Amino acid sequence: MTAPLIVVVLAAGKGTRMRSTLPKVLHPVAGRPMIQHVLAAAAALEPAQMVVVVGPEGGAIAEAVRPHPVVVQQEQLGTADAVKAAREVVEPLITEGADVLVLYGDGPLITPETLARMQAARRVGEDAFIWLGFRPPDPTGYGRLLINEAGKVSRIVEEKDASEAERAVDLCWAGLLLGEGAPLFHLLEQVKNDNAKKEYYLTSLVDLAARDGLASAVVEGDADEVRGVNSRSELAEAEAILQQRLRLRAMEGGATLIAPETVYFSWDTELAPDVVVEPNVFFGPGVKVAAGARIHGFSHIEGTMIEAGARIGPFARLRPGTRIGPEARVGNFVEMKATSLGAKAKANHLSYVGDAEVGEGANIGAGTITCNYDGFAKHRTTIGAGAFIGSNSSLVAPVNIGVGAVTGAGGTIVADVPDQALAIARAEQNVRPDGAKRLRARRAQLKES
Ligand code: UD1
Ligand code: CA
Repeated sequence: MTAPLIVVVLAAGKGTRMRSTLPKVLHPVAGRPMIQHVLAAAAALEPAQMVVVVGPEGGAIAEAVRPHPVVVQQEQLGTADAVKAAREVVEPLITEGADVLVLYGDGPLITPETLARMQAARRVGEDAFIWLGFRPPDPTGYGRLLINEAGKVSRIVEEKDASEAERAVDLCWAGLLLGEGAPLFHLLEQVKNDNAKKEYYLTSLVDLAARDGLASAVVEGDADEVRGVNSRSELAEAEAILQQRLRLRAMEGGATLIAPETVYFSWDTELAPDVVVEPNVFFGPGVKVAAGARIHGFSHIEGTMIEAGARIGPFARLRPGTRIGPEARVGNFVEMKATSLGAKAKANHLSYVGDAEVGEGANIGAGTITCNYDGFAKHRTTIGAGAFIGSNSSLVAPVNIGVGAVTGAGGTIVADVPDQALAIARAEQNVRPDGAKRLRARRAQLKES
C-alpha cells in the first residue's frame, strides 16, 4: 500500500530569458504547454492532489492548469519558500500520511517511469527523502549531491556556496524531490537563507532532516529527462528530444516513417499500425490515423481523424474538425476544414472544402471551392453519396448537392441540386466558324494602318 501522493509543481519563476509575454511554463513543446507535460507525467502516479505554485502574475497559468489549484508565492524567496506556499492546499492531506513530490514546471521531459522509480525507492527504504540526481555534461550552476560512505545524501551544496572540491562532484540535483509530507512541511519552517544568494533553499532539508534522524537517498535519472527550459534555445532542445521520443513511439507502434527526422508530431498524435508517413509531414494536436493510411510528403494536419486506407497529400492541409473516411483520397493542394469526407470519396487537386459533408464515393473536381463564408457567418455544404462536382466549381453555401447528382465544370452553384440531377451553371459557349482567322486578319490590318 503506497501513501497518498501530493504533487507540488513550482512555476513562480519569471522566465525573463525567454523574452516573452507568455509565462515560461506555458510555452508549448510538441504542441502542449510545458507545464501540462509535467502534470501529465505526475498524473500517471495517480496523486490525490496536484497543486501549482505561481508568482503574483500567474493568472494565465491558473487558467491553463485547471482543474488543479494554484497557490501564489508572493515573492521569489527560493525553492523552499515556493514549496511552503503550497501549504494551505497540502495541509489537510498531510495528516493522512501523504508523500509530497516536488517538480519544476519548466522540465517538460520528465517521464512517469522515473517518477515511479523515486516512489519505489521511498517504498523499499527507510529514507524519508528521495532526491533525483543526474550527471550533466556540464554541472555548472547545479546543486551538487554529496554522498556519504553509507551511500546516503549527506548534503546538497549550491554552486555558489561550494568549495573547489565540492564543485568537482559531477552528481547534481535535478530539482525533483519525493518526501514524507509531514516532516517535509515541518522542516520547511526551519530553513534559513544564510547562503550566498540569500534564498531559502529546498536543499537545506537534507541537513535539517539528518538532524532529526531522517535519511535522504538518491535515485539517478537521465540527464535529458531533467533538462530545464530557460531560453528559446533550450526550448528548441527540449522539442528535439521530445520529437525523437514521439518518432520512436510511432515506429514502435507499427508506423513507417520514411525520414523520421523530418516528421513533426504533436504529443497526442496517434498512428495505427501500417500507417506510412512520407518525409516532411507536420502533425498538430488532435490527429488520429487509422491502419494502412498513407500520408504523402509536405502535408500539414491538425484536429483530424483519418480512417483506414485513406491517402493524404502530397501538400494537403487538413484543419480541425475534419474526418477523412476509409480509403478516401485527398490530393495535392487541397485544404479541408470541419469537413467529413465519406468512404472512397475523392478530392484530388487544388480545392478548398470547408464546413462540408461529403458522401461516400463522391468526386470533387479540381479547383472546387466551397464558398462557406459570406463575410459574416459560416454556412454548410452537403454533397450526396456518389455525386460528381465538375472542375472549377464554386459551391455557394448553404447548398445541398443531392445523391448521385452531377454539376458541370466551371459552375457557380447557388441553389440546391436534387438527387440524380445534372446542374450546369455557366455562360453558354458561342462558336464562330473561322472567327479566329478573321480576328488575326483584322489585327494585321490595324498594325499596317
Ligand atoms: C535549483 C536547485 C539546484 C538544482 C537545480 C536544478 C535550489 C536551492 N537549488 O537551482 O540544487 O541543481 O534547481 O535545476 O533549490 N522557483 C519558484 N520560486 C522561487 C524560486 C524558484 O517557484 O522562489 C521555481 C522556478 O520557477 C524554477 C525552479 O523553482 O522552476 C528552480 O528555481 P531556480 O531559481 O531556477 O533554481 P536553480 O538556481 O536552478
Ligand atoms: Ca533553474
